Amino acid sequence: MLVDQALEALALRPGGLYIDATFGRGGHSARILQALGPDGQLVAIDRDPAAIAAGRARFAHEARLQLLHGEFGELAALVRAHTTRAQCDGVLFDFGVASPQLDDAARGFSFSKDGPLDMRMDPTRGQPASVWLEHAGLDEIRTVIATLGEERFANRIAAAIVRERALAPLTRTGELAALVSRNVRTREPGKHPATRTFQALRMFINDELGQIERGLAGALEVLSPGGRLAAISFHSLEDRAVKGFMQRHSQVDPALKRLPVIPAAARPRLKLVGRKQRPQAAELELNPRARSALLRVAERLP
Ligand SMILES: C[S@@+](CC[C@H](N)C(=O)[O-])C[C@H]1O[C@@H](n2cnc3c(N)ncnc32)[C@H](O)[C@@H]1O
Repeated sequence: MLVDQALEALALRPGGLYIDATFGRGGHSARILQALGPDGQLVAIDRDPAAIAAGRARFAHEARLQLLHGEFGELAALVRAHTTRAQCDGVLFDFGVASPQLDDAARGFSFSKDGPLDMRMDPTRGQPASVWLEHAGLDEIRTVIATLGEERFANRIAAAIVRERALAPLTRTGELAALVSRNVRTREPGKHPATRTFQALRMFINDELGQIERGLAGALEVLSPGGRLAAISFHSLEDRAVKGFMQRHSQVDPALKRLPVIPAAARPRLKLVGRKQRPQAAELELNPRARSALLRVAERLP
């Protein structure tokens, strides 16, 4: 299972301090806690208040766990504010949405179940997708769908949204899924025609790539030398961000690499650990949603 690969990558020490930046329903956290001794500590973060509430109930008697409602984009500040240790021994990210978010039509993530067109992972902040779609310009909508959804038919879809919202606001996931289906010309096998558009809007509404950049930078700040950074991505845009970040920080700053003495600030801060890893066939049979998951690991250098 990819979770085993990720845990192995973290090289857990029983007394260490670890960060699960994407708590979800606590599957990874439970496994980390199992491996920690009585002095170990786990800080787990999720921006979804429902995830935190479920976690507080599930782990009510777990004194080694601190569950924080917040964004991993503010990881360094959250960790500093809630721990007494200056640095941590490992950070795990498992990007994207959790199954309970997708399965609950009321959260507005699903093109297959009708619900309010919301898509916020944290419904206490920001604006629902329906509100953004009401005011955004044609170019803005097209760019989001084209870049974050890598959707070939972004032009047609954006034009249709602007046309239809002039008649009545788009407030339901079912309406948007039907509109996209009418405007996507070719079918990708096994994929709903609205998959790319929904992914794009979700990523935009939750600033997912910005969160990843800031979250990885925060992890680098709080990791102690020898500490591990493990990140699981679910699609190419997430993985590109992780790969780019790890590569950038595992090389000498190209602008300074010809200097006779490399200044400390320009030296690599990470060492790549192994190659990217995918789930094994047995896991994919049990959980087809894991088919595009990819794990990358790096170690903090002194
Ligand atoms: C794929 S799920 C994680 C599942 C988890 N590893 C488990 O074992 O249950 C991703 C979770 O990360 C949360 N999340 C996504 N982006 C976040 C962010 N920027 N800050 C904090 N939590 C985030 C989502 O709300 C979701 O619960």
